[in-house]
Amino acid sequence: MAASCFRCSLTQLPTEFPDFGLTPEQRREAVRGHYYEWPGMDGSSGELWCYSDRLSYRPGEMVTLFVSSTAAQFSIAIVRDGGIETSIFEKAGLSARWQDTPDQCSVEGCGWEASLEFRIGEDWLSGAYRVALSAEGRDGKPIHSHHLFIVAPLPGRKPGRLLQVAATGTWLAYNTWGGSNHYQGITGPNRNQYATMVSTQRPWCRGFVVLPKEAPRVPLEVAVPPKTVPRYPHMEWAFATGRSKKYASSGWASYDSHFFRFAERAGYAVDLASQHELHFSPEILDGYDCVVFVGHDEYWTWEMRDAVDNYVARGGHAARFAGNFMWQTRLEDEGRRQVCYKYRARSEDPAYRGGNVTRATNSWEAPEIGRPGSATFGLNATRGVYAGWGGCAPRGVRGFPVYRPEHWAFAGTGIYYGDLLGADSHVYGYEVDGLDFEIRGGLPYPTATSGAPDGLQVLAVGMASQVEESADIPIEDQFLTDEDGRFTAETLFGEASDANLDKVKRGNGMIVNFPRGKGEVFHAGSCEWVAGLLRQDAMVERVTKNVLDRYLGREKGE
Ligand SMILES: [Fe+2]
Repeated sequence: MAASCFRCSLTQLPTEFPDFGLTPEQRREAVRGHYYEWPGMDGSSGELWCYSDRLSYRPGEMVTLFVSSTAAQFSIAIVRDGGIETSIFEKAGLSARWQDTPDQCSVEGCGWEASLEFRIGEDWLSGAYRVALSAEGRDGKPIHSHHLFIVAPLPGRKPGRLLQVAATGTWLAYNTWGGSNHYQGITGPNRNQYATMVSTQRPWCRGFVVLPKEAPRVPLEVAVPPKTVPRYPHMEWAFATGRSKKYASSGWASYDSHFFRFAERAGYAVDLASQHELHFSPEILDGYDCVVFVGHDEYWTWEMRDAVDNYVARGGHAARFAGNFMWQTRLEDEGRRQVCYKYRARSEDPAYRGGNVTRATNSWEAPEIGRPGSATFGLNATRGVYAGWGGCAPRGVRGFPVYRPEHWAFAGTGIYYGDLLGADSHVYGYEVDGLDFEIRGGLPYPTATSGAPDGLQVLAVGMASQVEESADIPIEDQFLTDEDGRFTAETLFGEASDANLDKVKRGNGMIVNFPRGKGEVFHAGSCEWVAGLLRQDAMVERVTKNVLDRYLGREKGE
């Protein structure tokens, strides 16, 4: 990791990639290969897997856990994972058995029989509850696994409290357990396609619930020498340690937990909900003066957006410290199945064949949907995208370049025009959201066709890229390539031509603020904002508190 230089605050980065003991072939497999968690993978040492019937529960509701294990007995320990860890209950001597799992469990769900039921106590505080399971392996050594569920708040007015909405749609999309997610998969006739439908009825992949401190984040902490072929420390670490290939892309452990713990430690009262509450119980928002979204927050339904838009219009405050507001999803089977056809939407999604095309599971910016992401949170995913890794600005800004330091969000930070906010803690990346903009008199303004809501102010803008473009990277070593750029070109302009690619490949990431109806939205459009909270970056913490305090109606200095 970085070392501080003498008598200055500059951070010196190593010039070599970290090494996790992999051979060149293994390093390639770590990035190119499709590896995932599946029942039977650890057959010789034994296995223990768990999922719950739902993502979230209210106090008083029953939780059902489904467990499959090579061991006949297991134990569980449940802790609430907040500013402090609170032990909730432990139980040993529970009986387990091996349960058959369908090949397409990622899509259909595991379908196991219930192993354990318990009721959420009326006194259980809203938050994230980690379930640690352990048993004896076949070789006598202990085996472990982790699950997580959310306790959502009861309805009612909650003055002074924050509601954080965990990015559970993105967790589902990236969950590698069972072999298929919305990125890669064992689905389709040749067992080589990503899944257009993913089930909630399966365990979380390894690294979504808990991670050790040394787990690399996606943005590079390497001062990349000239002509360096990119490497991906997070995937190499995942491969070397048996974690999910996507542990750094999504999940409680990499993202949502860092805001929740920061907020509780900073003295805020925070409740937690899943995105399923936004979808099925939008009235949950009405109890709060401020609702927060963080991390990698890529998959939303139409109904979830309605919930936030209506809440803000009625006077609510939405604070989004998150990136990549990209895809529309649909929920089916009472929320047990998430649908997103993505790149194959125009050819395969039934919404295009006699269905309601505004609900197509495509990019929010597809013109036929008619609801760009900017209409809710002020920024668009396809105008933003990659920064700080691969061949996409690997030597880029690291922090948000600030243009309007006089804005209330920056009060007390001492930041100046042209400064980078959060560069030391690397808050800018790995996916960011932006807008088409122009500079006038040294200040950024959204263009007339950008989709920016009325009254939107651009506080900060950095560069991002949608295409890996370098003579220094052989095509076989490109991971991001121009695939996303070509898709965006086709989605926005009808054809994936070079000319259209040129229109979309240069992106940006912004911090913006705008009013809507009686309410207001603040949006720092980067997945990695939480890295500033994790790494205790004073300036990032101050901006976060400025936003929360204003939206909660707290007086300055309270
Ligand atoms: Fe993403």
